[in-house]
Amino acid sequence: MSRTEAASLLVLLGATGDLSQRMLLPSLYSLEAEGLLPPQLRILGSARSPLDREGFLRLVTESIGERIPENERDDGVLHALLARTEYLGASVDEAPTMAALASRIAQLRRGEVLCHLSTSPRFYGAACAALAEHGAVGPGMRVMLEKPIGHDLASATEINDAVAAVFDEDSIYRVDHYLGKEGVQNLIALRFGNALFEPLWSARHIEQVQITVAETVGVEGRGDYYDGSGALRDMLQNHLLQLLCLVAMEPPARFDPSAVRNEKIKVLRSLRPIDRGNAAADSVIGQYTAGASGGVAVPGYVEELGRPSRTETFVALRAHVDNWRWSGVPFYLRTGKRLPLRSTEIFIQFRKVPYSIFGGAAGADMQHNGLLITLQPEERIGLTLMSKTPGLDRQGLRLSKVALDLDFHQEFNHARRRISYERLYLDAIEGNGTLFVRRDETEAAWQWVDALAAGWRDAGMLPRPYPAGTWGPAAAVSLIDRSRHAWRE
Ligand code: BG6
Repeated sequence: MSRTEAASLLVLLGATGDLSQRMLLPSLYSLEAEGLLPPQLRILGSARSPLDREGFLRLVTESIGERIPENERDDGVLHALLARTEYLGASVDEAPTMAALASRIAQLRRGEVLCHLSTSPRFYGAACAALAEHGAVGPGMRVMLEKPIGHDLASATEINDAVAAVFDEDSIYRVDHYLGKEGVQNLIALRFGNALFEPLWSARHIEQVQITVAETVGVEGRGDYYDGSGALRDMLQNHLLQLLCLVAMEPPARFDPSAVRNEKIKVLRSLRPIDRGNAAADSVIGQYTAGASGGVAVPGYVEELGRPSRTETFVALRAHVDNWRWSGVPFYLRTGKRLPLRSTEIFIQFRKVPYSIFGGAAGADMQHNGLLITLQPEERIGLTLMSKTPGLDRQGLRLSKVALDLDFHQEFNHARRRISYERLYLDAIEGNGTLFVRRDETEAAWQWVDALAAGWRDAGMLPRPYPAGTWGPAAAVSLIDRSRHAWRE
């Protein structure tokens, strides 16, 4: 287990960027408010902008003002955060600025250091090398990396190699922000904190699994990045495959970095390839055209982008985890932009009872039990059961489907909805890598995704159009209908 001392210094590269302003600085504020930042922690922001400390503190204040609701804002907390924060402009390709950064790191550190690279991944290798060259890296320094780690296996390997030339794997914290979500951790709690589900959690009792991450937004000014990526690389390679791992993995011996990640990698390595042989049968890609989102007319993807494109904004597929537990169970994965709802959910459909004792009409009503784990926009768990329909009937008992529904927000007295980086920062500062992605996981996921992308290319598959505000191309429905299943909507 790679738990180490809490960090004494957080170095945030890319400190003036969008992610920093929307998520990272507000998360640090929330940790400060809850007394979870180690007292000795100093924060050193850095980016290309030649800001002075006052300028950066103003930016921190603004970002907190925008993101933290007014009733949660407290001047004392803000001052405490600002008091531990400073800024130094630096650019990876300007050696003197990196030397200055390295020497400031040396002055500020009182023990462990966490260096968060929230820059474009193409700078990761150079940033690590520059910090090492100027003497800032040594034992007790760890590095946190944002996605995407590459756009295929080859580029991911290159980035991982470059970072590994400076840091040991145990000191590398690769972010998948889904793992920082309360709902995702709750999935782990549900599976491994309850005796109820484990005996049922296999092909013997589960007929199909659906994982949907639906977004209503389009590409929101990120067209240049997104167009080189698409739904497969932007969402499926990381967030959906991580969810699949958590659903399908064997119980780890402990909730610690090695045990959990050892189980996840086994799932990734058991994924049956979808390649040129079965890409057309087992996957569907789409691209949104003009339509409506939330009742408002919105342009299509190519209009937003301003040029023609064959990038997919929707992907649906039928995956299989080829091992004893899951043999024969389809895992349907689906994600897309400009879908009708924002929703992240995992749906487990159990097999029907083997035989109906009720006969006649009631027997015909017999349906599957289903477990629905909703991660977004709310966290809920729902279980559908068959129950007797109230009343009398000459034919005997009539059954109908009822739902048990648990809303975590209500259950836990409307606990504040957290930004996933609160958990991720807390863990990275404390040196706990359980909720971060290991190199072998990223690379196994890329290997699987590369085969799929090559399969699309070889099969000449192009994204099918779907109007914004719909559930993707009709072919996504036929994809699973062929196995006599239907998407949960
Ligand atoms: C990011 C993707 O990783 O996840 C975005 O790059 C996507 O395209 C986002 O919108 C979704 O995250 P969340 O937390 O809003 O579900």
